[in-house]
Amino acid sequence: MTDMKTQYAGLALRNPIIVGSSGLTIKAERNKEFEKAGAAAIVLKSLFEEQIEMHGNSLLQETDYPEAMDYIHQYVKANQVNKYLDMIKATKDTCSIPIIASINCYKADAWIEFAQQIELAGADALELNIFYMETSLNYDFEATRDMYINIIRKVKETVRIPVMVKLGKYFSNIPSAINTLKVNGADGVVLFNRFYQPDIDINTQQIVSGNVFSNHSDLSDTIRWTAIVSGLIPGISIASSTGIQEWEDVIKCILAGADAVQICSALYTHGPEIITQILRSMEEWMQYANYESVSQFTGLLNYANIKNPAMYERSQFMKYFSNRD
Ligand SMILES: Cc1cc2nc3c(=O)[nH]c(=O)nc-3n(C[C@H](O)[C@H](O)[C@H](O)COP(=O)(O)O)c2cc1C
Repeated sequence: MTDMKTQYAGLALRNPIIVGSSGLTIKAERNKEFEKAGAAAIVLKSLFEEQIEMHGNSLLQETDYPEAMDYIHQYVKANQVNKYLDMIKATKDTCSIPIIASINCYKADAWIEFAQQIELAGADALELNIFYMETSLNYDFEATRDMYINIIRKVKETVRIPVMVKLGKYFSNIPSAINTLKVNGADGVVLFNRFYQPDIDINTQQIVSGNVFSNHSDLSDTIRWTAIVSGLIPGISIASSTGIQEWEDVIKCILAGADAVQICSALYTHGPEIITQILRSMEEWMQYANYESVSQFTGLLNYANIKNPAMYERSQFMKYFSNRD
């Protein structure tokens, strides 16, 4: 008998598979299909802080970028805030697994009060996708760090449900950033968000969207940082995300220290059945490897538990490349 249960940021999950936030998680009926296929939790599509603040008529003076304003206005129209609360309620009425709401934000601003409405609508947890790309030549590291701290502190003062932070991978010191979030109240982290990938069409000489979906080559960073953060910051819950395409990837992330994983691209490609297949193959692997529960192998290969932690570091890089002609 295999026990697939796991604890993630205070949520008791029946197994480690979470459906990541995307357009796939916008409808209660489809969320039910994910639940039926075996998903342990669902992260709803993100609401943007701009949407919340425009709804309250509190933000957005005209900027120097009318195109951006047009885009935001259109987006807001199509995705009203009340619809978001309805989506939470409808999904909660339809599904019995934990439902995680998601907000894409970059300021500790008026939108934070709305987090309470999310909690009242029945969300079991809140994921903050803090999306901020620093390009200033006068970059002020402390101001950026304070922004993250302010967001997590204020949200934690506002709600009682668990709060996770979904991060991009471009911090200069990921463990330090995550430790700061933990100290300031974060219940868990999602490693990582995958940013929009710009590309250039040389025929039209225009900027175009690159591949929206991840692939296996994205997984390595996810494994590395899951392992390092899990080893260095005991007690922070980790959901690995980006590049997880099949069951072996889930096992790898759990061995590296993930309490759960989030999948998105694989669901776009294969549909909900991929969750059933992943769970079945995981059970077979656990029997083969003599594990009765997921907790028995969680973090076995994290930074603290392997003999040579440098396997995740610079010296391994030197060894690998210096041995190649
Ligand atoms: C079409 C699409 C829409 C997405 N929308 C959101 C979103 O609203 N909020 C969010 O936090 N992440 C969003 N993501 C990112 C995914 O949740 C996930 O972090 C990313 O795709 C990496 O996981 P994967 O390798 O399993 O695809 C989106 C991804 C895709 C492909």
